[in-house]
Amino acid sequence: MNEKADKKMEQITSLCKRRGFVFQGSDIYGGLKGTWDFGPLGVALNNNLKREWWKMFVDGREDMYGLDAAILMNEKVWEASGHTGAGFCDPLIEDLETGERFRADHFMEENGYDVEGKTPEQIDEIIAREDIKSPKGNALSKVREFNMMFATKVGAQGDMTSYLRPETAQGIFVNFKNVVDTMAPKMPFGIAQIGKAFRNEIAPREFLFRVREFEQMEIEYFVQEEHWEAEYEKLRLDIQKWHQHIGLAAENIREFEVPANDLAHYSKRTIDFEYNYPGKGFDELAGFAYRTDHDLKNHEAASGVKMRYVPAEGAPFIPHVLEPSFGVGRAITAVLCEAYTEDQMNDEVRTYLKLPKHLAPYRVAVSPLLKNKPALVEKARAVFLALKAEFGNVAWDDNGNVGKRYRRQDEIGTPACVVIDFETLGQEAPELADTVTVRNRDTGAQERVAIAELVSYLE
Ligand code: GAP
Repeated sequence: MNEKADKKMEQITSLCKRRGFVFQGSDIYGGLKGTWDFGPLGVALNNNLKREWWKMFVDGREDMYGLDAAILMNEKVWEASGHTGAGFCDPLIEDLETGERFRADHFMEENGYDVEGKTPEQIDEIIAREDIKSPKGNALSKVREFNMMFATKVGAQGDMTSYLRPETAQGIFVNFKNVVDTMAPKMPFGIAQIGKAFRNEIAPREFLFRVREFEQMEIEYFVQEEHWEAEYEKLRLDIQKWHQHIGLAAENIREFEVPANDLAHYSKRTIDFEYNYPGKGFDELAGFAYRTDHDLKNHEAASGVKMRYVPAEGAPFIPHVLEPSFGVGRAITAVLCEAYTEDQMNDEVRTYLKLPKHLAPYRVAVSPLLKNKPALVEKARAVFLALKAEFGNVAWDDNGNVGKRYRRQDEIGTPACVVIDFETLGQEAPELADTVTVRNRDTGAQERVAIAELVSYLE
């Protein structure tokens, strides 16, 4: 990877911390690895992203139903889904001297060995044959399977085990019958959910990319078995449209067909949508799996409750499932990478986030030219409040001079800045009364716009 790309990721991470997008989790206590807290601008960006996703995949369609299931579920859910078994384990390896732990497949890859699809025993064999040592030069343990679910105890006696869900999907499967019984959906249809998921990753890393607590936006799309391929192609196009909608360039997205020996325990086909992260290259952004009838069939067998769809004609059947699954943190990372731009403006290097306006934390910033002139401040406050009533996410910025405010707003991706000056007050030329300067983030161009037309202009 080239140095410039490596630096870009570092610059983005540092911007995120400096400007209130993302902070280390439990920061004042030295952090907790694999956890991040979203600050005021990060939560705004996150919420905008999730709202756009919901608008596109749920509200914008007739075949989708929303859900918000509990994070804690009966442990039988995870037995039936296969998550308590080997299917949800990562291979763990340890430095026998220091106790440092690594994910064996990543460790081997970094050492130049492709172990995709290999069993722990096969990896052990390579390590012995090639005499591979830990990064500190010590002997390594045997590879063992490590289950990534966080277990917890439920109840005053703590006698029941539950897990922090490692995917939101199972909340959807266990509610399949509830949704069918209450909403009478027509086939094919989907159930969508946005929510937290938790995985005890062996080696959390790369900022928001691999963490222990994250959010997913998932759809389980129920189809008749014979239609799965046709529906898969349709959803695949919808996923492509989503990535366009959040501003990701087509050349930075790649669809990777996951080889059969590397498929998740429930999947017969998976395409990973990969993003070209700077300094890292193409890696997973979202997954799109064909889960067959694996989950509903297992839940039916384990719970004794029929997980069948009853068609108008013909016999009840267990639908097959297509699953587009998106990680919010990875989408945010990709959006930030795509938006992070350096250019030359007024003979200076400037850094700005070229965020799509439907994602930017602030839609617009408003300021008086001078903060010590009450008439300017009063007028600017009136414009600010009117825009805030319309858009909600409007910033008030009266710190420093106008040039500095522009730079500050550029850096957090605010698409437009509105400045109230003496012309607005009608003091320079009467025909300019009640007009403001609107400055465009990307071009730096400024236009005069009548206050009465500001909302439609910004829209
Ligand atoms: N229900 C299917 C499922 O969970 P997955 O490929 O394991 O499939 C789906 O996860 C998406 O969730 C990934 O594409 C990624 O965006 C996100 N994701 C998974 N593990 C993650 C982690 N440890 N940190 C951040 N995001 C993660």
